Amino acid sequence: MSSLKQSSENTISEKFIQTRKSTLELVKTLEKDDFIVQTADYMSPPKWHLGHVSWLFEIVLSKTQKNYDFYSKEFSDYLNSYYNQFGKPFDKSKRGLMSRPTTDEVLDYYDIITEKITNSLEKSKLDQQSTYLYTMAINHECQHQELLVYDLQNLLAGNYRPVKKNVMPQTSQIKTFSTKISGGNYELGYSGKDYCFDIELPEHRTYLNDYRIDTHPITNKQYLEFMSDGGYTDYSLWLSDGWELVKKNNWSSPMYWENEKGEWFTRDFLGKRKINPSEPVNHVSYYEADAFCKWAKKRLPTEAEWEKAALWNEEKQRKTIFPWGNESPTPDHANLLESNIWNCAEIGSYEKGKSPNGCYQMIGDVWEWTSSEFMGYPGFKSGFDEYNDKWFTNQKVLRGGSFATPAISIRGSYRNFFRLDERWMFSGFRCAEDI
Ligand SMILES: [Fe+2]
Repeated sequence: MSSLKQSSENTISEKFIQTRKSTLELVKTLEKDDFIVQTADYMSPPKWHLGHVSWLFEIVLSKTQKNYDFYSKEFSDYLNSYYNQFGKPFDKSKRGLMSRPTTDEVLDYYDIITEKITNSLEKSKLDQQSTYLYTMAINHECQHQELLVYDLQNLLAGNYRPVKKNVMPQTSQIKTFSTKISGGNYELGYSGKDYCFDIELPEHRTYLNDYRIDTHPITNKQYLEFMSDGGYTDYSLWLSDGWELVKKNNWSSPMYWENEKGEWFTRDFLGKRKINPSEPVNHVSYYEADAFCKWAKKRLPTEAEWEKAALWNEEKQRKTIFPWGNESPTPDHANLLESNIWNCAEIGSYEKGKSPNGCYQMIGDVWEWTSSEFMGYPGFKSGFDEYNDKWFTNQKVLRGGSFATPAISIRGSYRNFFRLDERWMFSGFRCAEDI
């Protein structure tokens, strides 16, 4: 199985130690009180994230060592997110109601598990299955780093103090706003030899018509035009379920936006500030993305269209792992967690990260909604029961990663998925059109 090989660039234990360090860095400046608060049903308290990622490493230990004894039944009960195979999952909406285990106990637990795994990785030579499980658990922790950032935005926004903070990169003038991609057969899925999630495999043939796709994510400026043209008041633009939500929740803008005397502001890690027209629109649901596309007389790309625009080089007739080639992401390529910008970069940033088709910022900044239903590719084989496969219903695929995605965990073939109404994550979109 090609997905089982570990990356040649770093050993698995280096990746593990680095991942644990960056998780702790994300919570380093939090007050003790911040660790236990759950501000909404869909978010989790920082304490829970730290415990849960450690518990998942205990699951790996239990699957790779004989007679493994879990650290504590109380911890295991609280930290089981949704795995029925390991007992009764803890009610997600009540994660913030638990004062025990305490934050200090969870932080100690975090260190204890770090040490246990470090020892186990150093001592034993891993077989193929153990390598897969450890690598999956590292990638799982990367996913929770990103979820933790969404939750810190919800909990603290401008009151959060990142350990490192960099300024926005320089932007280039975008000359072409959409690009034509030739159709035909396209091999969709992960084409490399390192780790990927089971849902990115197998790479398989799809057929595409010719299409056009935007060279940049939809900006706040474009989205404001949709809003001021009655986007949120015209039922004819909306899917029926979306229109029900607009009415029920009084949606009139993306999440976190506030109107003051006719001017739009947002509250994010940069504090309360005026909407920057040049940034990609963020915090929109699938329904909003879809309504915008209808208003613009375009549509969302399918995930195959998105991936081909990102990874296919027509001239060289080859596909790469990232839009810029096969080199791992650096802060010159994309706005990811390690860029420490804590915000979307303006469109036209990251010239070096452009795809051969001329598309900017396909990796990083915002996850991009696609019109594709989240389901297994033809020939899908589950790598771990209940991790991905039980979510193959009522979710759409998003591609490309966000400014909170750790660089070691992103690839052009990465498939994220959310329900159509969710918008607390960093979600935007670009449009496609038939030609
Ligand atoms: Fe998880």
